[in-house]
Amino acid sequence: MKIKTVLIPAAGLGTRFLPYTMCVPKEMLPLGNKPAIHYIAEEVVNSGVENMCLIINKDKQLLADYFKPHQELEALLQSRGKISALSPIIELRSKLSISTCEQREPLGLGHAVLMAEKYFGADEFIGIMLPDDIIDGEEAGLKQLIEQARKLNASVIAVQEVPLSAISAYGSIIIKQVINEDLVEISGVIEKPAADKAPSNLAIIGRYVFCPKLFTALHNIKKSASGEYQLTDAMDFMIDHMGERVFAYTIKGKRYDTGTPTGWVDAVNGFALKK
Ligand code: UTP
Repeated sequence: MKIKTVLIPAAGLGTRFLPYTMCVPKEMLPLGNKPAIHYIAEEVVNSGVENMCLIINKDKQLLADYFKPHQELEALLQSRGKISALSPIIELRSKLSISTCEQREPLGLGHAVLMAEKYFGADEFIGIMLPDDIIDGEEAGLKQLIEQARKLNASVIAVQEVPLSAISAYGSIIIKQVINEDLVEISGVIEKPAADKAPSNLAIIGRYVFCPKLFTALHNIKKSASGEYQLTDAMDFMIDHMGERVFAYTIKGKRYDTGTPTGWVDAVNGFALKK
């Protein structure tokens, strides 16, 4: 099992970061001298994957532009002996093939992923990384999931423990059986439950490896009450109607949520302290 392509769904509205996100994608917020999306691309490379597909809308073109060669600037910096300032992005480009796919309407994460169906072969596993979640650890977050998915030949999603008081901001997994201290098989997910209704304190983090049946499941789900197609509904569909097993792995590393102003400040401080 080899993951050839990782999808980066980034076509959401970013309402928690408005009005900033009216003009600039939150994935372009800086952490040090690099935008958040740069760290996501680095994680793709460090997970051993060669293709990254950005799912964007017409207002998010900046994300694709960031990865394109800027020939005039590069020539100028070269002539002034300052090209090393661009080494991080030039190096990244040499290791990664980057494509884009459009989601014309913000109809949810599940819908965004479905837009990229044509890029995957019938037997190909699918990597997905939500760009709000920056994972800082010794081993790349997605790589940890790929290793598990390879051993299990099944879908594996990332979770981390959160205090029950915070679980209402996440999807909380329903544990079917404990495999070992880091790995459980799940029977479903409850989205954003109240603390006293949460089936576990294991919260879904934005990293997923799915078996090829994900796309069939996405075709079969209905819109949720919020009017969006949810990725977690497709996951539930695979378990309930397609006989698929889905596992959750507690990934190692410090996770920052750059999708909110306070989370982004934490990330800025966390990365500053590392230097
Ligand atoms: P969120 O639900 O966090 O939405 O999406 P959001 O737009 O990023 O931010 P808020 O909640 O409005 O502040 C989770 C991920 O799914 C993508 C988002 O870009 C984000 O990476 N997404 C969401 C899409 O690509 N398309 C959608 O229609 C919805």
